[in-house]
Amino acid sequence: MSAATDRKTIASILALVSERFSRAGLSYGHGTDNPDDEALWLLCAELNLQPEVLENNLQTAISPEKESRILELCELRISTRKPLAYLIKEAWFAGLKFYVDERVIIPRSHISDCILDEFQPWIGTGDIHNILDLCTGSGCIAIASALALPGVKVDAVDISTDALAVADVNIKNYQLQDRVQAINSDLFTELAPRQYDLILTNPPYVGDKEYAALPREYHHEPKLALFSHREGLEIPIKILSESGKYLTPTGCLIMEVGASADLLQELMPQIPFLWLATETGETSIFLLTATQLAESQQVFAGLLH
Ligand SMILES: C[S@@+](CC[C@H](N)C(=O)[O-])C[C@H]1O[C@@H](n2cnc3c(N)ncnc32)[C@H](O)[C@@H]1O
Repeated sequence: MSAATDRKTIASILALVSERFSRAGLSYGHGTDNPDDEALWLLCAELNLQPEVLENNLQTAISPEKESRILELCELRISTRKPLAYLIKEAWFAGLKFYVDERVIIPRSHISDCILDEFQPWIGTGDIHNILDLCTGSGCIAIASALALPGVKVDAVDISTDALAVADVNIKNYQLQDRVQAINSDLFTELAPRQYDLILTNPPYVGDKEYAALPREYHHEPKLALFSHREGLEIPIKILSESGKYLTPTGCLIMEVGASADLLQELMPQIPFLWLATETGETSIFLLTATQLAESQQVFAGLLH
């Protein structure tokens, strides 16, 4: 029997990894939502193949070296509960690949839907010249927006210098140094007074009880990226209260608040949040215009103290 015939096929390794993931009772949510897709992602990354190509080559043999690396990563995923994205150092957002490591949260914001729709019908494409991506992390929202809207300039702000180092890697990978600028700032504090056509933000919005209950996978992500005081709403409220000053008169704010959406609405029933349904039907992202923000200043100010 030749050595080549002893080799396992892509199909057999894929089935093995998927079965091990399934038996281990992993938690998903960092790029996939089931063991089959997680196994597919691992093999695609390690074999450097697109999913369609891999699925058309299921009977191809895998080298022993590749097989042992894939099984090693499979075991690491199970024993450490680290999200796969950290093990293979890649994540996908708005159809684009990003470098990630433990210095940043793994991209998964539903703001990707708005970006892919080029913010239609909320704001005319020709009306967007400058965007602020507040709480940029890996830079995924800033970079995907810059690529969706050629010519647009984006300021990508984060308080974490670790996160900004990762954002810089991604900005360079997409050769966007001329249009996307990483800025170290605690929300708006270090920003020059200026006005943007659009503020996009996926800030930390997870409260303490929700944070403590998160599966182990999420505890590998920086707590700074997830946790916010006041049941998750401290940072979103600060952003609400300051955004108006940084928007053009026709500009708007788009913010993701995840499961804190209900609490936010309860806390300020008078604010006309426009909830943008995502492809999965979730209402975790809202839009407010500069005018609405200006008219709501007193409400936000009252909640800050
Ligand atoms: C939920 S993550 C979002 C990252 C990225 N935009 C994404 O969607 O994947 C929130 C980010 O906000 C940053 N952050 C936390 N507090 C901040 C603050 N006060 N000012 C600026 N950035 C902050 C964290 O470092 C983290 O990178």
